Amino acid sequence: MSYQRPTGTLDILPQEQPYWNHVKRTVQSLAERLGFERLDLPTFEYTPVFEHTAAGEGTDLRKEMYSFEDKDGQEITFRAEFTASVVRAYIENGMQVWPTPVKLYSIGSVFRHEKPQKGRYREHHQFNAEILGESSPMADLEIMLLAESIYAELGFGDLSFQLNSTGCPQCKPVYIEKLMDYLQAHHERLSEVDRERLAHNPLRVLDSKEPDMDQVLAKAPHITDHLCDECRAHFAELRTYLDHLEKPYTLNFRLVRGLDYYTKTVFEVWAQGIGAQNAVCGGGRYDGLAEGLGGPPTPGVGFATGLERIIMTMQTQGIKPPALPQPPVFIAALGEAARLEAIDLAWALRRAGLGAWQAFGKRGLKSQLREANKREARYVIILGQEEIETQEATVRDMDQGEQTNVPMQELVDWLNAQIPRA
Ligand code: HAM
Repeated sequence: MSYQRPTGTLDILPQEQPYWNHVKRTVQSLAERLGFERLDLPTFEYTPVFEHTAAGEGTDLRKEMYSFEDKDGQEITFRAEFTASVVRAYIENGMQVWPTPVKLYSIGSVFRHEKPQKGRYREHHQFNAEILGESSPMADLEIMLLAESIYAELGFGDLSFQLNSTGCPQCKPVYIEKLMDYLQAHHERLSEVDRERLAHNPLRVLDSKEPDMDQVLAKAPHITDHLCDECRAHFAELRTYLDHLEKPYTLNFRLVRGLDYYTKTVFEVWAQGIGAQNAVCGGGRYDGLAEGLGGPPTPGVGFATGLERIIMTMQTQGIKPPALPQPPVFIAALGEAARLEAIDLAWALRRAGLGAWQAFGKRGLKSQLREANKREARYVIILGQEEIETQEATVRDMDQGEQTNVPMQELVDWLNAQIPRA
């Protein structure tokens, strides 16, 4: 019997960590530059927290949640997304009395029982950012600019910003009626899946990937032509800011997003060359969510970006992260007395802030030096019988190919002086 990781999960190996480290540092530092504060949340919530994320019967996410009853008989769901958890925490921790707006970011795993494919996993990682308590389109702009600055900082090319408005509880239902009338009139051209969507969640028909749909939807009504005055003004103001900054975007009336709480702005960023799952981020406004979760009326806007998809984009576009630091010193020892000296030295170096590898076991010098080579340590310290007697270590500079003797007493200071600090 051999054990395997669960379907749709990933082992993130040490050689991939430079990507993860670089991406996490980048998103964190950009978010903090814009005044976002970090919020860490539980990995699971009581299931009703996610009720408004996937309220509709036809929502895919409702079927995909990792939900179970725990030993106390409580309904629990592993984080299916961040936004609902953030809003739950906002209400529970009384953040409505904090200086407004409250700007929060989080990083962590998200769990969805999806059909796995390239770029789509059952556990993935998101960087998530939210602005709570602000209805101005300037907040929508800042969220979009934070997303954009992440990809710019990472050096991405070939991105496309997709933008739409989904209206509000006043204008959205009016639009849905109009869309349903249109789709009913083209019923015979809809696939089985889309007829099903039409019955349960008509907006999702716009999202259809069926081959004929471009043609079927060519003359479908656009929600942006049916917005109420408030939603229209909000969308126009956001576009004024984007145009002022000369930010390119595509108005996409078919962008509806899979989650149910959105009002007004919705957007996604698509990357080229990473396959069918090309959305590196998605977000939008959710002005009714806080009330839905039993809190005071609190407008909100945010986005999340999938770290796996960011890393896939880096790899596709040939973007290399900086290497992670490795211990620069390797200590090889031959004989019992030298081994004891080596153990002391390794810890003296580490206490002094210098990373050091230590050869384990009682191997010959050749085997230890082979390991030192593989580890790519800059300095190899050799301690043998002679070094113990003279109390002078042999130090090999692997870059320069030089060898010197350094008194044991001075070795930590000597190495400290040679090795530049990050
Ligand atoms: P979402 O579109 O479901 O939105 O997910 C955001 C991003 O997470 C996607 O654009 C994608 O990069 C990544 N992602 C989603 N599902 C997977 C998966 N199965 N495998 C790999 N990556 C995935 C949300 O979650 C909203 N909470 C975003 C938001 C924040 N809206 C407002 N605030």
